Amino acid sequence: MKTIFSGIQPSGTLTLGNYLGAMQHFIPLQNENNCYYCIVDEHAVTVPQDRLKLRHNIRSLAALYIASGIDPDKATLFIQSEVPAHTQLGWMMQCISYIGELERMTQFKDKADGKEAVSSSLLTYPPLMAADILLYKTDIVPVGDDQKQHLELTRNLAQRFNNKYNDIFTVPEISIPKSGARIMSLQDPNKKMSKSDDNEKGYISMLDEPKKIIKKIKSAVTDSEGIVKFDKENKPGVSNLITILSACTGQSVATIESAYEGKGYGDFKQDVADAVLNVLEPIQKRYNELIDSDKLDDILDQGADKASYEANKMLRKAKKAMGLGRVPKKK
Ligand code: AQP
Repeated sequence: MKTIFSGIQPSGTLTLGNYLGAMQHFIPLQNENNCYYCIVDEHAVTVPQDRLKLRHNIRSLAALYIASGIDPDKATLFIQSEVPAHTQLGWMMQCISYIGELERMTQFKDKADGKEAVSSSLLTYPPLMAADILLYKTDIVPVGDDQKQHLELTRNLAQRFNNKYNDIFTVPEISIPKSGARIMSLQDPNKKMSKSDDNEKGYISMLDEPKKIIKKIKSAVTDSEGIVKFDKENKPGVSNLITILSACTGQSVATIESAYEGKGYGDFKQDVADAVLNVLEPIQKRYNELIDSDKLDDILDQGADKASYEANKMLRKAKKAMGLGRVPKKK
């Protein structure tokens, strides 16, 4: 049995990209592994958040995890800020990180780009992410392709700590899905689909109404060729829609290309919209049943208790290795 950890930020309502690149892969893993799935709210506040919206998004994300198929009897679902060991180990990880390596993170560069004031936490959140993962002796981290660089840093920090202090951390492996690892914006297919995109037409929210989803897909940027062919460089918009269709239906890219030979984009876009609705509508139904329920609070309370217990064990080891605090009294 392996230990799996992955987190999602409640920085907006999850997008189809978050679902296809990350969340849907969490479900089968819970059957044979020890899984921790986290709502990483402390990562979300690295950029300004509206207090009430953030609270709503945290709960909404928890409900989406369960509605998508996370079973709280199998996996541990919890909120990062309810387990203080994360920020405590996060600080220790910051202390062994170099500014140069953090400045090289492309997500930092993208999110800081053009901003007058950039919070220092935007630079230092990858060490917190490393702490999230390392606290649970994680073997595998399933994430979308955009998190590869952060995972490499996590591996480096684990090895650095193990070499410098004591060999306590498991060095985790990254797992990136073959299909849907990077869903692009519907309006700018050279940019990834993001829940905090200012242009709402660029992303499909998992909770968008069916009509809105159809409209967004129909107005997705393509090209004037009218040929359904996967060619990321020359046809990024069409290629993105093929990726979405493939990830939602399980059909291969070649099967999709031949199914639409000689047809224009009209039928193709309609089928992409139908496939997305097939995936999202049952999730939305379960979400609506859960969002205001006490059951959701019970799940999160239990998750925080279990995660804290495990995380505190590793935190104690890390503090001892670094020499923090006092030597515990012998009983
Ligand atoms: N477009 C995407 N395609 C495939 N996978 C994606 N992921 C994110 N966007 C895509 C994967 O979703 C998981 C959770 O991501 P996150 O919320 O922790 O952070 P993020 O990668 O920064 O996601 P967003 O939507 O772009 O959030 P904002 O706008 O707040 O920055 C990760 O496994 C990620 O790979």
